Amino acid sequence: MAHQVLYRKYRPRSFEEVVGQERVVRAVTNAIKMGKVAHAYLFSGPRGVGKTTVARLIAKSLNCEGTTKPCNLCAFCVEFNSGSSFNLIEIDAASNRGIDEVRELREHVRVTPARGSYKIYVIDEAHQLTEAAFNALLKTLEEPPQHAVFILATTELEKIPQTIVSRTQQFDFRRPTIDEITGRLIRLASSEQLSLERDAAHLIAFAGEGSMRDAESVLGKIAAIAEKTINQKMVEDALGVPPRSALRDMFEAIVKKDSAHALSLVEELHSAGHDIHFIFRFLTMYFRNALLLKSSSALLPFVQAELLPQEIEFIQNALPEMSMQDIQKKNSILLAASRQMSFAPVPQLPLELAVVELCQ
Ligand SMILES: Nc1ncnc2c1ncn2[C@@H]1O[C@H](COP(=O)(O)OP(=O)(O)O)[C@@H](O)[C@H]1O
Ligand SMILES: [Mg+2]
Ligand SMILES: [Zn+2]
Repeated sequence: MAHQVLYRKYRPRSFEEVVGQERVVRAVTNAIKMGKVAHAYLFSGPRGVGKTTVARLIAKSLNCEGTTKPCNLCAFCVEFNSGSSFNLIEIDAASNRGIDEVRELREHVRVTPARGSYKIYVIDEAHQLTEAAFNALLKTLEEPPQHAVFILATTELEKIPQTIVSRTQQFDFRRPTIDEITGRLIRLASSEQLSLERDAAHLIAFAGEGSMRDAESVLGKIAAIAEKTINQKMVEDALGVPPRSALRDMFEAIVKKDSAHALSLVEELHSAGHDIHFIFRFLTMYFRNALLLKSSSALLPFVQAELLPQEIEFIQNALPEMSMQDIQKKNSILLAASRQMSFAPVPQLPLELAVVELCQ
């Protein structure tokens, strides 16, 4: 496989490839179609979920000469896709935090673009700007020239001053579901001539903790050493995580209130070097979804967005053995234990205590 990192190589080139951000994509593509793009956007959300990607797609669309935007065929799109993106100015606020940078930016903004119709300024990690820089930026946002579009991206929305927020159109980017990430990973693997089995992709997605970028980067590492097929066992080995069957065993031992067996599984997995945090996240995912399944069958689609069919099956089989109150209590126990995880002197202790309590 080529050495270029997957997530760079496959950054979406059209809005259709963006996964899990339907609301933002619909609003933005409509605005582009109607020629009513806002002069300032604020994109917030966790890292690796598509903020920069959508910002670049807007930049490309606004200067695209084709009819469907972006067309990926016109001279501008071709140049943009090859990496020399004129009219797109990306500023990392983490290293350009100050008033001087913003002043410079304000000078730059006034000049009309030499080619194309729009200059797009993407300010990443915008919450890092200093107060003075925000004030200077505010003046520009109050009277932006026709050709300028600002896109501020941040992982910490609450640190952006209200005066800035109110001058922008704000969009929250959500974490794609495990199922959405799984689907994209399988498509990317197939572009690399690799067959990625569904349960393997699902595990990579889970390991990415909701970040598409992290999931893609894990896939890239495994793809680099894989031959033709990537199966679940290969992913488990590469990530050093316990086999899914052991996690199922632990879930079922807890349902049966077999604390001796559940505890011995914790000890085995921990002494084999598996990450306690990972085991914990898996258990929580199982019992949280048990709660949804027990409540109403109408919630099934949300469960399917997170779990494999065989997991839904064994959870459903266990439901008659637990009352609603039981499941509720188990989730509270897991939640309380998760708060103790980072402070525990012995890393496996919170999990052990939780397991004993879960079996009562
Ligand atoms: N919603 C998404 N749909 C498809 N790919 C995504 C999505 N979010 C992230 N990616 C992948 O992760 C990479 C990094 O995403 P990026 O847009 O830079 O994330 P952010 O700016 O939110 O941190 C992209 O190049 C792309 O491959
Ligand atoms: Mg980004
Ligand atoms: Zn084009």
